[in-house]
Amino acid sequence: MANHSAIPQLGLGTFGRTGDNGIQAIELALEIGYRHLDTAQSYNTEQTVGEAVRRSGLARDEVFITTKVADTHLAPADFMPSVRSSLDTIGVDQVDLLLIHWPVPNDVVPFESYMTALKDAQDKGYARLIGVSNFTIDHLERAAKLLGPGSLVTNQVEIHPWLQVPTMRDYARSAGLRLTAYQPLVKGQVAQDDVLKAIANELATTPAAVALAFLMAEGHIIIPASSSRRNLENNRAATALSLSAQHMDAIRQLDRGYRHINPTKSPHWDD
Ligand SMILES: NC(=O)c1ccc[n+]([C@@H]2O[C@H](COP(=O)([O-])OP(=O)(O)OC[C@H]3O[C@@H](n4cnc5c(N)ncnc54)[C@H](OP(=O)(O)O)[C@@H]3O)[C@@H](O)[C@H]2O)c1
Repeated sequence: MANHSAIPQLGLGTFGRTGDNGIQAIELALEIGYRHLDTAQSYNTEQTVGEAVRRSGLARDEVFITTKVADTHLAPADFMPSVRSSLDTIGVDQVDLLLIHWPVPNDVVPFESYMTALKDAQDKGYARLIGVSNFTIDHLERAAKLLGPGSLVTNQVEIHPWLQVPTMRDYARSAGLRLTAYQPLVKGQVAQDDVLKAIANELATTPAAVALAFLMAEGHIIIPASSSRRNLENNRAATALSLSAQHMDAIRQLDRGYRHINPTKSPHWDD
């Protein structure tokens, strides 16, 4: 079985953290104590992630780095060169986790070819762990048949209090697969939620921290993004926040299938 216990449950999303400001934000997160950075070929933040880690003075093995192969690089001729280019851009010999960013609609690039290439990248030592993003249950079952159960450590999908993906959550639990919750704060919008606000008032914290504590209590890995010290610290403090069964139940009621990221290339979602 894949060792997903090695993935720090709190990570930092890096979408939009480009250039000098991006490097500074990521470096600040590392200073505050974040040890898991989520980048992608398509974010233009692989370089900023690498630079921030180098500036932090932390040893390579103290920071868990994830990157994702873009859907434009999944064809056989492009896959491995793109992974080697990611390693060069980040400035590492190996990433901790390599994901397929999006499945290819209608298998225009054959599913078997890019999933086998992902495993080959791991076998070559380019990635310690492998996983996927935006996959459906059908994709996950096909992957398990092809690569063997437990080969993939995570499926990174949109999850937050308004989109709790119960079908995917239950499937992942039964398959021993961790879900990584992307956009866990709906770009900060969850801070306006009245139920989260009420719980936050009771616990003397913020609605964002309550949302993140909920997702962690559900067993998910979370990757909220921020550039501000206040929000970075607040989001990290969620790791020490414990919610009662009553709070958990109240937040479970907030699920309304609100999907924020749904481009035309999206698969047919399970929830
Ligand atoms: N696999 C995929 O297809 C996929 C898709 C989307 C995202 N992702 C990953 O998921 C990460 C997170 O998603 P995201 O960056 O789109 O959105 P997000 O983490 O839900 O929200 C980030 C936004 O929320 C604000 N924020 C952060 N902490 C806050 C707090 N405590 N209170 C109020 N506002 C707060 C931030 O502003 P400040 O900077 O001002 O704090 C930032 O603008 C991305 O960075 C990326 O790594 C993956």
